Order: sequence, then structure tokens, then C-alpha cells
Amino acid sequence: MESGQLSRAEALACTGCRHACHVMLFSDTKSQLFGQIPIRHIILMQMRFDGLLGFPGGFVNPSKESLEEGLSRELLEEIGVAVPILEENHVNSCYAPPSPSSSSSSSRLILHFYMKKMEEEQILDIERAAASTAVDHGHEVLGMVRVPLYQTKNGGGLSLFLSHSFIGNARLQLVDCLLRFGLIPAKHLHKALIQAETMHK
Ligand code: GTP
Ligand code: MN
Ligand code: MN
Ligand code: MN
Ligand code: MN
Ligand code: MN
Repeated sequence: MESGQLSRAEALACTGCRHACHVMLFSDTKSQLFGQIPIRHIILMQMRFDGLLGFPGGFVNPSKESLEEGLSRELLEEIGVAVPILEENHVNSCYAPPSPSSSSSSSRLILHFYMKKMEEEQILDIERAAASTAVDHGHEVLGMVRVPLYQTKNGGGLSLFLSHSFIGNARLQLVDCLLRFGLIPAKHLHKALIQAETMHK
């Protein structure tokens, strides 16, 4: 197991830790951008209140709810649909990187990451619900965004998306899932990551 990673069981054994769960919801799609560029997959992320990109989800309280129940509750708040999440959707758990705002006295935060493949129509329903019925819309969440998996001729697309600012290790979670589940060819991802490095400089 990679360093800093915990199993779900090891993570839950830390009762003094705080826990947060986030999920990558996605579908396949046959649709094309401008009728010619394959979109391949619709991957949902969000623009958070603080201007950072992240995945839907949030703090859960394992003494009151299971990790997966807590994540579904957060999804209802943030995207307007209580998408059922199962243990089999768990990808990994790790300690949060120390943030400048967290004091040394505050308890450690463990981040749990999930992913769930859905039907395209369900993802479209979520996008509609997120903008119309989610209680956190316009507050904690400024809007859902899709991840562009293609590159455009002018250097836009995935590389430019990856050059934005992300909360915690959300950017790594995205890259890891794209690779792990073969959502784009590894060499395309590698190229996009290198290009992203040179942007906004
Ligand atoms: P409140 O209701 O305001 O407490 O927010 P929340 O429960 O929705 O929590 P939030 O989604 O902000 O997540 C809690 C913490 O987890 C954040 O402060 C970040 O440190 C971290 N976090 C948030 N989003 C992500 C994400 O997409 N990936 C990772 N790895 N960490 C995240
Ligand atoms: Mn136009
Ligand atoms: Mn929330
Ligand atoms: Mn949240
Ligand atoms: Mn919350
Ligand atoms: Mn909240």
C-alpha cells in the first residue's frame, strides 16, 4: 500500500480523527464536442465557495452514521440527490495533507475517496438537481463542473483544467482515478500533466 494510505478499517479505528468523504460520480457518453471531439466520460466536480475545485462530499461523523451514509447525506445537500454509496465504491483513505489553517492541536483529518459509475441520464439528472434543488447551491457550492478529458488545438482542455487550483488532494484523486480506471490513455494524461505545469507561469 502507498505511503500515507490507510485501509477503510484502519481509518475507522481512529476514533479521535475527523473524517471526510468525497466521491467521483461519472458516466460514459457517446456525445461529442462540436460534433467531432469525443467527450468519452462525464466526470462531475464542483466549484467550491472558496474558489477551489473539488469533489462533492464533506465531513461525516462515524459515531452517528456510516461513512457511506454520511457521504450520501452530503450529496443530498450539495447536489440535491442522495446517491446511494456502498463500501464497494471505496477507492482509498489517507491522512489529509497538513493545511496552513489547521492548528497543531486540532485532530487529524482522514480523507476517504469513493467513485461511482452511473448512467449518463442519471448524471444529467444530478446536474439539473444540483442547480435547482440542492440546499447548498449558491452557498457551499457555486456550481457543478465537468472535467474535459480531451485536448484542444490551442492547448486547452484537460491540461488547462488541471492547471487550476484544487482543494486538498482532489487533483491527485482525479488523476489517480483517470489512470486506475483507464478513463483516458496514460500517455495523454502524462502529456496533459506536463503541459499543466507550464501554465499560469
Ligand atoms: P461544511 O458543511 O461547511 O463543513 O463542509 P463539508 O462538510 O461539505 O466539507 P468539505 O467538502 O469542505 O470537506 C471537508 C474537508 O475535506 C475540506 O476542508 C478539505 O480539507 C477536504 N476536502 C474537501 N473537498 C475535497 C476533495 O475533493 N478532495 C479531498 N481530498 N479533500 C477534500
Ligand atoms: Mn458558442
Ligand atoms: Mn457539504
Ligand atoms: Mn463539501
Ligand atoms: Mn458538511
Ligand atoms: Mn455544510
